[in-house]
Amino acid sequence: MKNCNNSLQEWPEPIVRVQSLSESGLPSIPDRYVKPDTERPSFDSSNDANIPVVDMSGLYGHDDVVRTATLRIVLEACREWGFFQVVNHGVSPELMDAALGVWRDFFYLPIETKQLYANSPRTYEGYGSRLGVQKGAILDWSDYYFLHYLPSCLKDYKKWPHLPPNCREVIDEYGREVVKLCGRLLRVLSVNLGLKEHFLQNAFGGEDIGACLRVNYYPKCPQPELTLGLSSHSDPGGMTLLLPDNQVTGLQVRKDTSWITVKPAPHAFIVNIGDQIQVLSNAIYKSVEHRVLVNSGKERVSLAFFYNPKSDIPIEPAKELVTPDKPALYTPMTFDEYRLFIRLRGPRGKSQVESLKSPR
Ligand code: OGA
Ligand code: NI
Repeated sequence: MKNCNNSLQEWPEPIVRVQSLSESGLPSIPDRYVKPDTERPSFDSSNDANIPVVDMSGLYGHDDVVRTATLRIVLEACREWGFFQVVNHGVSPELMDAALGVWRDFFYLPIETKQLYANSPRTYEGYGSRLGVQKGAILDWSDYYFLHYLPSCLKDYKKWPHLPPNCREVIDEYGREVVKLCGRLLRVLSVNLGLKEHFLQNAFGGEDIGACLRVNYYPKCPQPELTLGLSSHSDPGGMTLLLPDNQVTGLQVRKDTSWITVKPAPHAFIVNIGDQIQVLSNAIYKSVEHRVLVNSGKERVSLAFFYNPKSDIPIEPAKELVTPDKPALYTPMTFDEYRLFIRLRGPRGKSQVESLKSPR
């Protein structure tokens, strides 16, 4: 991927804010957002399945039966769904509401204020409206804000919005709490693989991990049946904690050949396995494709917090999980290298982790 570096400096076309398009009141969406037939959403809501719900209080009580049952639900979720939601997770509901609130208010600021933070594909940090740098690509119906929380050398308050007034404090506290929760979840995921509880955290680089926040803003769309808020993808990183909008659904998870609309429990986080944990677990855990639908009635906001391995260590299947029966399925790659794919090509289902499969 040597000659990619130039193309990563700037966007290939002028950036259009989807929020401005939406607010202009167009009766139809520009061609650039119209997906091919096969990718368009289906709105048959006949399927009322939901992703598993995990009550984390069951993990820390004194009842071993409850603890074992709870671990089992998490294990099955990681193997079969790649997704679950957690309640009683220890992050305060007030903080969750405050975090959604400051970000909603950020997107309501005048365009000139948001433009101060306009991003480039070099680091993606700031206010953005596309993922991928391919000229002429079909785009998603969303704007976003991306920032680094860890490692501390990448955390830069100047690249965080200065408005609304208390937003930096709220983001800081939110990051601190969610990082703690991610640590707890990685221990559960390690134990469920039959490994020492610190295995995954150590494989991620110990304390030196990466954590970043992508705030998604999905404006109202006059033709939601023709487009997507976010195209199908699996998350490239380690694990994602999503705080979904508390009023509007939109996230869909692939289950075999159908798409399941996630119905979040109040003040739950949606947890999903990213590609790096699929690799480390030698595909015992699945990083599953998901996408976001938009609608004509309501905008939607979500906070995706990505907990990632330190970016320069090679990630490969855990030695303990590689046996003659189950050889290593993936060749090692650092996360820095890995994330270049999505940063260049945009969201493309599971094509990337598939491409890591060792030739056999
Ligand atoms: C993401 C993502 C889902 C959502 O940001 O990677 O999958 O509901 N977001 O916004
Ligand atoms: Ni995602």
